[in-house]
Amino acid sequence: MACTAQPATSVAAGNTQGKWWKDGVVYQVYPASFMDSNGDGLGDIRGITSKLDYIKSIGATTIWVCPHYDSPQFDLGYDISDYESVFPPYGTLQDMDDLISGCHSRGLKIIVDLVINHTSYLHKWFQESRSSKSNPKRDWYIWRPAKYNANGRRIPPNNWRSNFSTNAWTWDEATQEYYLHLFCPEQPDLNWENPETRKAIYASAIEFWLKKGVDGFRVDTVNMYSKPKDLPDAPIINPKAEHQGAASLYCNGPRMHEFLSEMHDVMAPYDTMTVGECPNTPDRSKVLKYVSAAEKQLDMVFLFDVVDVGQGTETKYDTTPRNWTLPVLKKAVNNSQSLIIGTDAWTTSFMENHDQARSISRFASDAPEHRVHSGRMLAMLNATLSGTLFIYQGQEIGMINMPEDWPIEEYKDVESGNFYKYVARATNSDPVALAKAKAAIQHLSRDHARYPMCWDSTPQGGFSTNPKTWMRVHDLTDEINVAQQEADEGSVLNFWRRMLKVRQDYSKLLVHGYYEVLDEKNEHTYSYWKTSKDSRALVVLNFTHRAQDLELPKVETGGRLNLAISTYEHSTGAFDSLRPYEGRLYILECET
Ligand code: NOJ
Repeated sequence: MACTAQPATSVAAGNTQGKWWKDGVVYQVYPASFMDSNGDGLGDIRGITSKLDYIKSIGATTIWVCPHYDSPQFDLGYDISDYESVFPPYGTLQDMDDLISGCHSRGLKIIVDLVINHTSYLHKWFQESRSSKSNPKRDWYIWRPAKYNANGRRIPPNNWRSNFSTNAWTWDEATQEYYLHLFCPEQPDLNWENPETRKAIYASAIEFWLKKGVDGFRVDTVNMYSKPKDLPDAPIINPKAEHQGAASLYCNGPRMHEFLSEMHDVMAPYDTMTVGECPNTPDRSKVLKYVSAAEKQLDMVFLFDVVDVGQGTETKYDTTPRNWTLPVLKKAVNNSQSLIIGTDAWTTSFMENHDQARSISRFASDAPEHRVHSGRMLAMLNATLSGTLFIYQGQEIGMINMPEDWPIEEYKDVESGNFYKYVARATNSDPVALAKAKAAIQHLSRDHARYPMCWDSTPQGGFSTNPKTWMRVHDLTDEINVAQQEADEGSVLNFWRRMLKVRQDYSKLLVHGYYEVLDEKNEHTYSYWKTSKDSRALVVLNFTHRAQDLELPKVETGGRLNLAISTYEHSTGAFDSLRPYEGRLYILECET
């Protein structure tokens, strides 16, 4: 390669025109587990406000707050009973105003969750809708009459399974019809076909908060609003199961683009950022239509390629721990990185959120001797990929999964709980099947992201003064916590800080650059170029607990690869081998 810093393929990466969110680093906060300011054992809004300086100190530019709205909490806030009020144990509207102004006064932006595929069953819209068939809001949700099978038994309108291992329909005794819920029965799906419903959603869930000053939204299940006409049965993949996975039918339905364009127009008068959650969308052209700047629908999406690595296909838990290879992860990364190549679209870099187990435990090693190096190496991966970068609370200190010996009772999430109950029912509580289910849950469950944030080594990890926290505090909180890492130059936290500074310094390469993998098939190391118009960076990562030889591309005359940062202290930058879970970033310097 000549030292001209030209990419192998002559395509420009991404639309680099300056929107504030492109170079942004978004720090995601899960209110229940971040910081408890009033000692009730549950996190709250004031707790978040009290930590804004900390969040800013990492290098974040925006915070994303998971649902803070009033809710009966069947799906921990993703079941909203009133878009215009705050869940009382989290605080008040005034507390949200203070959080918004607290962010803005520090130069931070704030986005909130927008959950509008469904509401809580306690939302007044649903209460009205279910009150009678003739209620004016009946059509705001998706109601259908029963079907009857050959034996005359009442059955739901179709065979869809919800995302939480149950039937997607619930029978309403009072009005003698079924309603659809793609998640819990307590989360009825809104009927987006009704223009009046859409108008009410925009006013209550979107404009109310934009007027309060939020800077945008993370848009929940953004591709599920438009259901296919006639709600057909899903193909039978598992003949033994009563209900079938139907995501290919209810994701990316016929009117999705129309709905998102309409929603975009509602937000247009404000300088917002939108990031949509976009599962089950392997078709690149569909994704591009959502995120192409010209289409004016969403600014970016979270694709699931990376976080789905190692998960089962029929259900996410139909797998065994670490059931993936490095080439599969590389392919997944490539899918979201390639979105910006030669297009006007934008993308995201993330590995964790409130729905994912901890990345160190999934993708590297949480063994005591490796977890710090693993955390730094994954920080290097995340922070050198193009797109807006998202960090989930605790990821910056290398928090890991809940311990293997915690019993199933410590898992509080509806998704893991329902799956475990489903296996118990289906196998008559067969101990082998239950042990397999528990192993999968210990590896992949959403609970690992939801136990309390570890701030220090006091008994509740500094999260709360109350010994009864809503989820158990991690056994290792005295080893993995913010206070201890602040004081340690070599900590995962301080590595993230350095890495985010490097990301900013080399933004053209690391945020906007063209990504090109070098060792696609290698099962141990992961190397890639990032290229901009006038420079190049090389990232090399060791994904194993052994030293690995390094085969580097030849740099032709006039160029030199200079080590910019390594995950090991005192790295000599020698090219011969990488130490366990080591990562290095080199910048190609052209000799003049
Ligand atoms: C996706 C959210 O991230 C998840 O936590 C929630 O359970 C579902 N959507 C339903 O809102």
